[in-house]
Amino acid sequence: MGGDLFAEAAERQAAAQRIEELIREIQEHDYRYYVLAQPIISDSEYDRLVAELRALEERYPELRRPDSPTQRVGGTVTKEFPIVLHRRPMLSLDNAYDFAELEAFAQRLRRLLPEATWTYIAQHKIDGVAVSLWYEGGVFVRGLTRGDGLQGDDITPNLRTVRGIPLRLRGVGYPPELEVRGEVYMMREDFTRLNALREEIGDPPFMNPRNATAGSLKLQDSAEVARRRLRFSAYFAEGEGLPDSDAERMQLLQAWRFPVVETFGPTDLGGVQTFIEAWEAQRDTLPYDIDGIVVKVDSWDLRELFGVTAKAPRWAIAYKYQPEQAITELRSITYQVGRTGYITPVAELKPVRLSGTTVKRASLYNYDEIERLGLHIPDVVVVEKSGEIIPKVVRVLPERRPVGAAPVVPPTVCPECGTPLVQPPGEVGRYCPNYRGCPPQVIGRLAHFVSRKALNIQSLGEKILRKLYEKGLVRTFSGLYALTPQQLQGIEGFAEKLPQKIVQNIQASKAVPYPRVLYGLGIRHVGETVAEKLAEAFPTIDALLSASEEAIAAVYTIGETIARSVRAYLDDPENRAEIERLRAAGLQFALQASPKASSEGPLAGKRFLVSGTFGEISRDTLIAYIERHGGQYASSVSKNLDYLVVGDSPGPSKLEKAKKLGIPLLSLSELEALVGVPVTESVA
Ligand code: IVH
Repeated sequence: MGGDLFAEAAERQAAAQRIEELIREIQEHDYRYYVLAQPIISDSEYDRLVAELRALEERYPELRRPDSPTQRVGGTVTKEFPIVLHRRPMLSLDNAYDFAELEAFAQRLRRLLPEATWTYIAQHKIDGVAVSLWYEGGVFVRGLTRGDGLQGDDITPNLRTVRGIPLRLRGVGYPPELEVRGEVYMMREDFTRLNALREEIGDPPFMNPRNATAGSLKLQDSAEVARRRLRFSAYFAEGEGLPDSDAERMQLLQAWRFPVVETFGPTDLGGVQTFIEAWEAQRDTLPYDIDGIVVKVDSWDLRELFGVTAKAPRWAIAYKYQPEQAITELRSITYQVGRTGYITPVAELKPVRLSGTTVKRASLYNYDEIERLGLHIPDVVVVEKSGEIIPKVVRVLPERRPVGAAPVVPPTVCPECGTPLVQPPGEVGRYCPNYRGCPPQVIGRLAHFVSRKALNIQSLGEKILRKLYEKGLVRTFSGLYALTPQQLQGIEGFAEKLPQKIVQNIQASKAVPYPRVLYGLGIRHVGETVAEKLAEAFPTIDALLSASEEAIAAVYTIGETIARSVRAYLDDPENRAEIERLRAAGLQFALQASPKASSEGPLAGKRFLVSGTFGEISRDTLIAYIERHGGQYASSVSKNLDYLVVGDSPGPSKLEKAKKLGIPLLSLSELEALVGVPVTESVA
C-alpha cells in the first residue's frame, strides 16, 4: 500500500520534470520557428512533443501551467470581450506620401525644439492589427485590441494562441510591469491557404490579410483562432527602467524573445530615406504585407517633449508606399454562384496592364463592397494589386462617369435559378437557398465529391458533370454509381474509350476510405482535417448519425459551429436517404483498421529518435520505416531512448544529451542493416 503511494509520488515527480523539459523544448522550437524563422525539427516531430506534453497534462491536470504551449491551442469560448481602458491611449499615425512630406515632418520638429538634436529609427509598417500586451513579472496576463484608442477589447484567450507572443519572458532585466505593443498579422501564404480552405467549406473569402487577421482576433472560439496561424511583431515597449533609446528597447525586446518589426537606426533623415527606398524595391519579396515605413524619433525623453495631438504623436510619421494601381473601365458585373450558394460579385473590366499581368476581372467580394464603392455601369475605376493577392477595385472616379450610367442594383434573386436570395443575420454575403435545385450548387457539390482529395474520380471534370446534370443523368452523388457506359456514350465530344474509363473510375472510388467520403459529402465547415477527426471519433457512419451535437462538439478541435453544421446536415432526411443510397452502392462508411505500427519486426521493443537530415529521405518517411518494422518513435532524448539515428547536421543539444546519457548513435546505413531492408524499398 505504502509502496504504491511512493511509486505514485515518484511517477508524479518524474512527470513534473518531463513537463518542465517539454515546455522548455517546445518554447525553444516556437522561438526558432516564429521569431528566427529557422526551425530545426519537422512539423510532425514538433506535434509529437506537444502530444506528449498534452498527454501528461491530461493525466496530471494540477501540473498544467498557464504558460504551457498546450494552452496555445485555445478552447476558450468568449461570449463578449470585456472592455478595458488603455494605460495610455493607442494613437494612430499621420501619413507622408513622399520625401517632401517627410522633410516637412522633420522641419516641424525642428521648429518645436530649435535647440535640440536627435536621431530617428525607421521600421516596417506591417499591415495588420495593433494590440497591446501586458506582462506582470514576465508573464503574459492580458492583451487588448486598439479599440477606439482609449479602450479596447480584452482578447487575451485569442492572443494566447498567437505563437510569436511569449507567454513567459526569457532572459533578465524586464520591468516587473511591461507593456508591449505591436502588430498581429497573417503571412500571405497563410492567408491564401485560409481562403482556399474557406472556399472548400463554403465560407466567403477574406479580402486581404489584414481583414482576415481582424476577423480572426474577434472570433469567440479561441481554438479556431489558433488554426489561423496569426503572427506578432512588436514595435513598442514601456515599463520602468527601460532605456531612453527606442532602438535599445527593441533590442531588449528581442532578448526577451519577442519578434520585433524590422528596425533601422538610430540614424539621420538620409538614413531613413535609404531604408525607405531599399524596402520599396523589395517589399514584394517579404512573406507579409507592409504598407509603408514608420519613422520615429529615437529618444523617449524627446518624444515626451514633442508630445501628441488629438489623434497622433508629433514625433512619428508613417511613410506610405503607393500600391500599384491602374485606371480602367468597369463594363459589367457578373454574379457567380458557388457550391454553397454564396454569391460572389465579379467586376468585368476593360483589360489593363498591372504589375506585369493583364487584369480583366476583379473580385468585389460581396454586396456591401458594391454599395461602399457606389459602382455604376459603366464606370471608370481604380484597380490595385498588392503582393500576390487578386486585383481589387479600390474606388471609382465619379468625375469620369459617363452620362446615363446607372447605379448597380444587386440582384435579389439567384442569377442562376431565380430563387429569392437570403442574407444570414450578421453576414455580409448573400446566398441562394435553393440547395437541391440550383444547378451551379449541385454541379459544384458533385465536382467537390469527385475531386482528388475526396472520391478522386478522374476524367470527370466540371464540364462533363455539367452535361450529365443538364441531361438529367446525374443529380446526386449516388446517381454517379448508377451510370453506365451506354448512357455516357450519348454525350457528344467523348473519345471512344472514355465512357468505359469513367465508369471504371467511379466503381474504383468505392474503395476510398471513410474520412474522404465524409469530406466528399461537402458538409459546410467540414474540411479534410475535420473529416478525419470526425471519422476517428465516430469510426462508423452509424455512430456519427446517432451522435449528439454536444458529443460532436466535444471532439478535440471541432467545436460548436462545426458540430451544429454536421448535425443539421445529418438531420436532413434527404441527406440521410442519400447516405443510405451511397452505403448500398458499396462506399466506405466505416474506418478500416489501420496497419498500425507492428509489435513485431527487427526493431520491436526499441525506442528511436531521429536527428538531422537524410538527403532525399524525409523525416516522416524514416519514422514510418521505424514504426513499420516494430520500432517505437520517441519524442525526445531521455534515458528511455535506445538509439539516436543521426543524419547530416543533427541538433547539437540532442547529440550532446544522447552522449551524456550514453545512448548509442546509429547512422542511416546502420539502421538499415538492423532492419535488413533499405528505407527506399520498405516504404515505397
Ligand atoms: S507606432 C503612437 N510602429 O500602424 C505610435 N505602428 O497607422 C503608433 N503599425 O495603429 C504606432 N507597424 O497598427 C507603429 N512599426 C510600427 C507599426 C505601426 C504597423 C500600425 C499600428 C498603428 C497604425 C498607425
